Amino acid sequence: IAAEKAGYKHFMQKEIFEQPRAIVDTLRSVVDLNREVLQVPELNLDAGLIGKIKKIYLVACGTSYHACLVGKYMLEGVCRVPVEVDLASEFRYRDPLLGEDALLIVVSQSGETADTRAALKEGMEKGAHCRAIVNVVGSSLARMAQGVLYTHAGPEIGVASTKAFTTQVVAFYLLALYWARTDGTLNQAGFSKYLKELLTLPRKLEEVLDRADVLRDWARHFRKVDHFLYLGRGILYPIALEGALKLKEISYVHAEGYAAGEMKHGPIALIDENMPVLVLAQKGDLYEKMLSNVQEVRARGGRVLAVVEGEPDPRLGEEAWQFTVPEAGKWLAPVVFSVPLQLLAYYVADLRGTDVDQPRNLAKSVTVE
Ligand code: G6P
Repeated sequence: IAAEKAGYKHFMQKEIFEQPRAIVDTLRSVVDLNREVLQVPELNLDAGLIGKIKKIYLVACGTSYHACLVGKYMLEGVCRVPVEVDLASEFRYRDPLLGEDALLIVVSQSGETADTRAALKEGMEKGAHCRAIVNVVGSSLARMAQGVLYTHAGPEIGVASTKAFTTQVVAFYLLALYWARTDGTLNQAGFSKYLKELLTLPRKLEEVLDRADVLRDWARHFRKVDHFLYLGRGILYPIALEGALKLKEISYVHAEGYAAGEMKHGPIALIDENMPVLVLAQKGDLYEKMLSNVQEVRARGGRVLAVVEGEPDPRLGEEAWQFTVPEAGKWLAPVVFSVPLQLLAYYVADLRGTDVDQPRNLAKSVTVE
């Protein structure tokens, strides 16, 4: 087992550090880099079908569900097609309005999750077009669906999903580009631009991973805290949810992810010096609004930890802990912002002495309802 960990203390840590490679593999599996062409033959989604689809449903559990939430921003933003996202455990019980003009995409690392399988079955029975984004080749979902887009994360052993998540996000990016290129929303020049952004992503992740020690210092400082609030806006809102889930899963610290604009409708009541608030600060349209959320936190004595794009910003407060991530563009920011949150959760858990790879009460894949 030690050999399989390749010198890392835990599988989760190894898998966090494998993400640049996993992303390259996922990208290379569908893009011909010389010709700058993207093809997804196994997904079985041609121009004729894309033209017929009126709505896309994305359905999954756990971390894969968070990838779907990110996917909604991408597919709606780039392709201008309406998208609904559902938890698999809810989907079939709400009698969803599925028919021939609907595309259901289930997302799963393992391809074996019982609720997600049931959601796919529901889609098939109701006559929707059913596809899967899956990591494990030949898994149940891969076999049941009418087409598959594989993530190429490689085997993921740690119960808390890391590289499977970021490759799911990349898969959605690739799907959005394929869709938009196929229906003409995106021309070749536009496509090249998006592709270039993706090609620079692995290097940007390396840059974040090289500074992992900074997150270990954060973890050392905050390891005894029992409650955490994570705030994000826009496409980083799902990343706030995912960051909080990572911390809960492996360190057993209570963490809540919230849309920053909703803070005033509840969680603000909890903020004091004992509840650190981690904010995801993406530069762009919503940045000023995030700064005013930070102001509200500081005014209540809350400690601010900020993951910030580009340069550190004094406006986040002198006492704020700041970790910078490289700018990765609007749609790929979720990937670079995910990595520091994974590392923070990992180091907190390790310092608290939990069983990082096999946290209590959790299973890698939940094959019963
Ligand atoms: C379990 C795992 C999670 C995972 C979820 C969905 O709860 O512990 O890490 O996100 O199942 O799994 P799937 O294999 O369908 O992505």
